[in-house]
Amino acid sequence: MIDSLRIGYGEDAHALARGINLIIGNVWIKESPLGAQAHSDGDVLLHALADALLSAFAMADIGHYFPPSVPDYKGMDSARILEALLERIKLEKGSFQLHNVAIVITLDSPKLGNYREAIRTRLADLLRLEPARIGLSFKTSEGLAPGHIQARVTVLLSVP
Ligand code: C5P
Ligand code: MG
Repeated sequence: MIDSLRIGYGEDAHALARGINLIIGNVWIKESPLGAQAHSDGDVLLHALADALLSAFAMADIGHYFPPSVPDYKGMDSARILEALLERIKLEKGSFQLHNVAIVITLDSPKLGNYREAIRTRLADLLRLEPARIGLSFKTSEGLAPGHIQARVTVLLSVP
């Protein structure tokens, strides 16, 4: 049993800037005047989640499959990146069962508590996983990194 379990871990961070929509877990955080400067839509949560899933299979990382130098990926919806990588994992490694996902988002403002359920519901949809298996915590940096957003994600899954 224990030999069929795989843990995965991923993280991502971006600098924040004005005039960009802040997207977290494929959800638009409407009241944020700042968004993540990035080549794609800057969704740190989905990027860290994709890396966590890839890492569980020792399959390199998101930049290996979606190099930032490719113009096609500019402004890309990160949900499409996650879906493509899930397909890729299944193709290369076969099917797997995801058991739970644990996420920490570090952002000084705005407060994100009101978005917790919307983000968990969207992730549940993308991962075909019950929301009860998706833990989502928010932290400030205590002012140490005000112009910055970071996501850390662990996943637990099993292979047949
Ligand atoms: O980082 P700190 O421990 O001060 O955060 C206190 C609480 O504020 C967190 O436990 C979380 O519930 C909430 N929070 C939030 N949105 C953020 C940062 C923190 O809702 N962007
Ligand atoms: Mg990123």
